[in-house]
Amino acid sequence: MAIKKFEVGFIIFVMIVIRCCNCAFTPADNYLIDCGSLTNTTIGDRVFIADASLSWTLKSSSSIIINTSRDLLPSSDDTAPLYMNARVFTASSSYTFQIKQHGRHFIRMYFLPLVNANYDLTAAAFSVSTQNALLLDKFQPKANVTVFKEFSLNITSDTLTLTFAPTGSNSLAFVNAIEVMSVPDNLIADTAKIVNPAGTTYKGLSGQALETIHHINMGGPQVLPDNDTLWRTWETDDKYLLSSSVSQAYKYPTGRIKRMEGVTQETAPDIVYSTARELSSAAQNTMSYLVNVTWKFDVDANYNYLIRLHFCDIVSQALNALLFNVYINSRSVESNLDLSAITVQSLATAVFIDYVLEADDASGTLIVSISPSNAPNGDTLPNAILNGLEIMKINGSGGPAVVDVPPGSSKNFGIILGSILGAAAVIVVAIILCLVLRKRKPAKQYSKTWVPFSINGLTSHSTVSRTSNGTAFTVGQNGTLGYRFAFTVLQEATNNFDENWVIGVGGFGKVYKGVLRDETRVAVKRGNPKSQQGLNEFRTEIELLSRLRHRHLVSLIGYCDEKNEMILVYEYMENGTLKGHLYGSNFPPLSWKHRLEICIGAARGLHYLHTGQVKAIIHRDVKSANILLDENLLAKVADFGLSKTGPELDQTHVSTAVKGSFGYLDPEYFRRQQLTEKSDVYSYGVVLLEVLCARPVIDPTLPRDMVNLAEWGVKWQKRGELEQIVDTRIAGSIRPESLRKFGETIEKCLADTGVERPSMGDVLWNLEYVLHLQEADSSTSVSDVNSINRITELAPQVQNINTVQTTPTVEAGTSVLNDLTDVSMSKVFSQLIKSEGR
Ligand SMILES: *[C@@H]1O[C@H](CO)[C@@H](O)[C@H](O)[C@H]1NC(C)=O
Ligand SMILES: *[C@@H]1O[C@H](CO)[C@@H](O)[C@H](O)[C@H]1NC(C)=O
Ligand SMILES: *[C@@H]1O[C@H](CO)[C@@H](O)[C@H](O)[C@H]1NC(C)=O
Ligand SMILES: *[C@@H]1O[C@H](CO)[C@@H](O)[C@H](O)[C@H]1NC(C)=O
Ligand SMILES: *[C@@H]1O[C@H](CO)[C@@H](O)[C@H](O)[C@H]1NC(C)=O
Ligand SMILES: *[C@@H]1O[C@H](CO)[C@@H](O)[C@H](O)[C@H]1NC(C)=O
Ligand SMILES: *[C@@H]1O[C@H](CO)[C@@H](O)[C@H](O)[C@H]1NC(C)=O
Repeated sequence: MAIKKFEVGFIIFVMIVIRCCNCAFTPADNYLIDCGSLTNTTIGDRVFIADASLSWTLKSSSSIIINTSRDLLPSSDDTAPLYMNARVFTASSSYTFQIKQHGRHFIRMYFLPLVNANYDLTAAAFSVSTQNALLLDKFQPKANVTVFKEFSLNITSDTLTLTFAPTGSNSLAFVNAIEVMSVPDNLIADTAKIVNPAGTTYKGLSGQALETIHHINMGGPQVLPDNDTLWRTWETDDKYLLSSSVSQAYKYPTGRIKRMEGVTQETAPDIVYSTARELSSAAQNTMSYLVNVTWKFDVDANYNYLIRLHFCDIVSQALNALLFNVYINSRSVESNLDLSAITVQSLATAVFIDYVLEADDASGTLIVSISPSNAPNGDTLPNAILNGLEIMKINGSGGPAVVDVPPGSSKNFGIILGSILGAAAVIVVAIILCLVLRKRKPAKQYSKTWVPFSINGLTSHSTVSRTSNGTAFTVGQNGTLGYRFAFTVLQEATNNFDENWVIGVGGFGKVYKGVLRDETRVAVKRGNPKSQQGLNEFRTEIELLSRLRHRHLVSLIGYCDEKNEMILVYEYMENGTLKGHLYGSNFPPLSWKHRLEICIGAARGLHYLHTGQVKAIIHRDVKSANILLDENLLAKVADFGLSKTGPELDQTHVSTAVKGSFGYLDPEYFRRQQLTEKSDVYSYGVVLLEVLCARPVIDPTLPRDMVNLAEWGVKWQKRGELEQIVDTRIAGSIRPESLRKFGETIEKCLADTGVERPSMGDVLWNLEYVLHLQEADSSTSVSDVNSINRITELAPQVQNINTVQTTPTVEAGTSVLNDLTDVSMSKVFSQLIKSEGR
């Protein structure tokens, strides 16, 4: 029922968001002046007032108005009428505007030197300044060319004085039209990523004057002022595109664009996000990873530039399937950019990222390139996209404050803090909007509800998740996803926690087999009453666990927190642990193919833990006993997430409660006390050896050099004689190429340092290839050489995205939507609600 309620809440939430997206923006200050005109001029939905009727704005000792006929204009676009009249100044003169709302404003000016018998405007040279800033210096508009200038200034005084001053005594100044208009304060944030050196942050943008160089709609049509809530013009990208043959335009239905918090219609209109330039089909289909889509712009040297890239993944069919690199002036600014991660696992969701290119790196040209990265699992085509691009010139003065961001802790802190703020902001906005909606008043006070959006793109989160079939689940403060069992139900299901029904013991407590009244079999993990975990932590963990849904992860069905119990109820895995099938029991030996399929499945599960969430989740205890097999021998990873509140290593517990098990532990973890996804990769490498050799990872009964499987295995692999130690029961059935590749993969996983190890995605790729080599017939072996080379190239591509120092959990407020939501799991879940409902 809680879910139903939440669903309704979710729908209202979405409606509100949509509603607000449709709200037209009303600028607090909005001066539109047709200079030198005697009549008001209407352009689209805006009226430019004749400055003759606004004598109070203009202070001029010597001004003349001149006009021309429309057919003499060089331009015929919508704004052409504004160029028909001009006000000409023979001495310094000013327009003064009352500023109702301090903050960012656009100042736009239109110039065309009209032909006139008495005044030669083509000889005009002048400056334009505000009381604080020089906007144009020694400006000389050329004949027959209309010039449109757009500046963005933070105005902090109550009036704005715009002064036109002729340069030199015989010169003239003129202007055809002026706009002064408030824009949302969050349109330009204070910080941006610095292109070079990478990893540094530019601070102080909010005080800077910016001049628009380009607003560009990549792969889309020109957008005219009437189709933009801030009346901007967005150009097409064709004329800036180099080698257009490697790219193509892509279009998506405009109405289906979602937006991250803080990405409003004022940031950019839907048409910018719903069109993009992507890799050409030919490049995609030929798996061309070494392709750049590049745009080149001529800019003035010696200035800093603010470059805003707009992204919206409208091309992908699945989450996390698009990984690409971005370069600005040949410097890498994003590698393996995964838009799904930034948009909290949703497609077609608009975001933008700001960069500052400093003067030293921008010498007259500005080049933006995108190129595909290798897909994490090798099963999607290479692609790269860009939806929109804005280039703004920053007035160079007053060196910016550069803040170094160390790659580790503070970044994560930022993410966590950001997510908390983001989640809080979402709630606040939702409440405000609900009130607004109830009063049935249009949200005119829009500017007051803007939520600041971080440039790093990672601070905003939705509290709502959606499964692939469109149902909404709650992951809220109290409403936890998953079924809350009554203690008596679990007592009954486990025969009152019968010791004979124990199927496993772990740091957390005992695991019992259970049978619910409707015959559903479950695994019931009962927290040890003496365990150090508090109830609150337990609840936090349930939230984390319930967000993780994947075919290759053991699903949490429910929990019980009655009477201070901490019980987790999982789906029951018929075939027990992988370890049990490898040695020490009476199961028939698994074939090599079966083993590979299990390894691939488990690798998929781990890859999802590492990459399926905003923040990587590190398992911390990857071992064959934590890989479970269902009735069809499908592998699922178990026991993840509990790591968070488990006893820390320094508490020197000897039990399995120490996260990470002896024999599987990453040696680098000991050295650096820093946990990364690569620690899981190491442990997984040990599992792969175990699968191959079918022996315990630590066997003290063996001769000394054989005790530790990892050391022993790597030694044989390095000698090139891995086949000597393969499980004798299957040794004959493994094809040599398959074994060779498998051995290489193990060796890479067990590399000494994390950076040398492949990512889980690469491991997955390699294992699939091992299976392919096992199944392929010998005639294809010629091409294998190439494939192997390619795989080796792939390995270093994926960077360690998150280095997590303490606890690898997802922050409250994030959500999962995964296409792989386990169907059987939801079936169980719905049955439970029916049969065991409170
Ligand atoms: C132009 O519009 C303004 C404001 O609507 C009005 O006050 C003024 O009289 C108009 N001027 C002319 C010449 O129509
Ligand atoms: C310029 O303005 C005058 C009125 O001041 C008008 O008579 C004349 O027709 C206008 N010229 C053109 C080319 O519009
Ligand atoms: C740009 O910088 C120059 C030099 O510091 C300064 O005089 C001018 O006012 C600045 N212009 C703007 C628009 O801030
Ligand atoms: C501007 O255009 C007009 C009319 O088309 C033409 O007579 C004139 O020579 C042009 N001026 C320049 C400088 O090109
Ligand atoms: C404008 O500048 C003031 C003072 O420098 C600053 O406090 C404010 O945040 C700025 N506003 C915007 C919208 O950047
Ligand atoms: C611009 O707006 C007009 C009408 O307001 C609409 O017909 C047109 O399709 C829009 N163009 C784009 C590119 O959205
Ligand atoms: C793409 O461009 C970047 C930056 O110029 C460059 O470093 C990279 O090597 C290029 N890639 C290809 C395949 O040309």
